[in-house]
Amino acid sequence: MRATNVLLLLVLLTSSAFAVDVKMEPVKPTPVTANTQLGKKLYDRYCSQCHGNEGKGDGPAAEFVYPRPRDFTMAIFKVRTTLSGQLPTDHDLFHLISEGLPGTSMPAWKKFLTVNERWQLVHHVKTFDSLGLFKEEPVKEQVVIDTAPKMTDALIAKGAGLYQQKKCGQCHGSQGRGDGASAAGMKDEWGELIRPVNFTKSWRFRGGDRIEDIYRTFTTGFNGTPMPSFVDAIPAADDRWALAAFVKSLARPQKNAQVLKASFVKGEIPVDPYAKEWEGAEFVDFPLAGQIIQEPRWFKPMHDVITARALYNDREIAFLLEWDDGIQGADSVTVQLPTTDTGNVKPYFLLGNKGHPVDLWQWSAKEGGSRMTATGAATPRELGNLIGEGGYKDGQYRVLLRRSLKGGENEVSFEPGKFTPIAFHLRDGDNGEEGMKMSLSTWYAVLPEPTMPLTVWLWPFGIGFLALGGEFWLLRRMRRKCRK
Ligand code: HEC
Ligand code: HEC
Repeated sequence: MRATNVLLLLVLLTSSAFAVDVKMEPVKPTPVTANTQLGKKLYDRYCSQCHGNEGKGDGPAAEFVYPRPRDFTMAIFKVRTTLSGQLPTDHDLFHLISEGLPGTSMPAWKKFLTVNERWQLVHHVKTFDSLGLFKEEPVKEQVVIDTAPKMTDALIAKGAGLYQQKKCGQCHGSQGRGDGASAAGMKDEWGELIRPVNFTKSWRFRGGDRIEDIYRTFTTGFNGTPMPSFVDAIPAADDRWALAAFVKSLARPQKNAQVLKASFVKGEIPVDPYAKEWEGAEFVDFPLAGQIIQEPRWFKPMHDVITARALYNDREIAFLLEWDDGIQGADSVTVQLPTTDTGNVKPYFLLGNKGHPVDLWQWSAKEGGSRMTATGAATPRELGNLIGEGGYKDGQYRVLLRRSLKGGENEVSFEPGKFTPIAFHLRDGDNGEEGMKMSLSTWYAVLPEPTMPLTVWLWPFGIGFLALGGEFWLLRRMRRKCRK
C-alpha cells in the first residue's frame, strides 16, 4: 500500500462520524477574501428580486417561479461535494452560482458576472446563515469526485440491477420517469411540494447531468429534500459509478424540428395510442413555455416539452401525442390548427384572432375528446368526425387525435406536400393547470409526406447527367486551351 493510501485510510478511520467508503480530501482554500460592500451591492442588484433582501427566498419574483428561490437563512444547500447534512464548501457555492441550477429559474451567473464578483456573492450568501453555522462548523473535508469510468453495457446493466435492488424506482419510477409509488405529495424542508426527477429529462438535473455530477449527487445527497445520500446503502464507489451510468443511460435528448412529417400508411390507422404501428413513426419534441400573455398568466408550468408523431392514409390523419408526468393528475392536451387554409398569414398563435379563427382539438383525462373554435376566446363546437383516445402508463400520457384528411366547414384540409400550421397546449392537472393556466408552443407545421411520384426519383439522375455533361465540356475546353 502506498503511503498516501495509508494516510487516506487513517483519515477515514479517524473521521469516526462518517465511517464510509468515500474518498475524502481537505477543503481547498478560498482564493478571494470578502469585500462586504461589493458583495451586498451585487446581491441587491442581481439576487434580491428572487432571494429577498434578507435572503429569506421571498423577493418580489419569488411567487412566480417553481421551485421557489432558496431561503438562505437555514444554510441548507443541495449541490455539494460534502457529506450528507453538511454545509457546502466555498468552492461548492462558487460552482453552483457560476453554473446555476438547470430545470429551475436560478441562472448560470458565469455568463453575467466576473470571477471576483461571483466570489463576493459566495461570501455574501453565507452572511444570511441565521444559525452561525458557517462560522462555527466550517467543513474541513470534501468528497473526491474521480473521473468517471467508461460507460459500457456491462456497467449500465450492473447499474440497472442496483436501481432495482436499492428501490430508486420507489420514487423515480420503474422507467425513471419520476412516477414511483411514493412520488406524490412529497415535501422538502422548506415546506414546498417536491417531485422526484424524471431521468429521461436530464437537462433538468439541478446538479448537472455528467456522470460525475450524478455520482456526486447520490454520494452527497441533496440536503433539504427527500433525495438521500446513498453512501451507506451503496458503500462501494464502483457500484455508485454503475448506478450513475445507468441513470445517465436513461436520458433522452430532445429531437427538435420545425416540421412534423406525417408518413403515409396503407390500410387503417390504429385508434389505439399503444398500437405498435406508432413505434416506427418519426417523432418530434416541441418545446413548451408557460402562458404569460393573457390573464390568468402562468409562470409555473410543469411541462416543458411535448412529443408528437403523425400518420395518414388516403382518408384520415392522426396525431399521437406523448408527455411524461410522474403524477397522474387530470391532464389535458390541445392541438391548435387554423380553420381554413390561410396561405402565408397565420392566425395569432394564442387562440387565433379576428378573421383568423383556429380549430382546437382537445383531449382531457377527465372528459375525453372535445372541440372548440377560437378567435381570441374559445367557444365549444361539435366533435364532428374527430376522435380522441388517451391513456396513462409508466409515468407517461399518450393521446391519439384522428380526423378525416379532407376538411368540412371551418376545417382545414390536409394534403400531401402541403404545410399546415400546428401548435400545442398542455395542462398538468396535478399542478393546478386548467384553462389559460397552461404551457404552450408557438406555431410549427405538419406535412403529410407525398408518396413519391416517379419524377422525384428521376430528377436527381437528370441533374447528375447535366452536371457530368457540363464537367466534360469544361474539361475539353481547358484541354484545348492548354494545347494552344
Ligand atoms: C430568477 C430567480 C433567481 C435569481 C435572480 C437568483 N436565483 Fe438563486 N435560486 C433560485 C431558485 C429557484 C433556487 C432554488 C432551486 C431549487 O431549490 O432547486 C435558487 C437557489 C440558489 C442557491 C442554492 C443552491 C443549492 O445547491 O442549494 C444559491 C446559493 C443561489 N441560488 C444563489 C444565487 C445568487 C448568488 C444569485 C444572484 C447572483 C441568485 N441566486 C439569483 C432562483 C434565483
Ligand atoms: C424517497 C424518495 C427518493 C428515493 C428513494 C430516491 N430519490 Fe432521487 N430524488 C428524489 C427527489 C425528491 C429528487 C428531486 C430533488 C430536487 O428537486 O431538489 C431526486 C433527485 C435525484 C437526482 C437528480 C439530481 C439533480 O441534479 O437534479 C438523481 C440523479 C437521483 N435522484 C438519483 C437517485 C437514485 C439513483 C436513487 C436510488 C439509489 C434515488 N435517486 C432514490 C427522491 C428520491
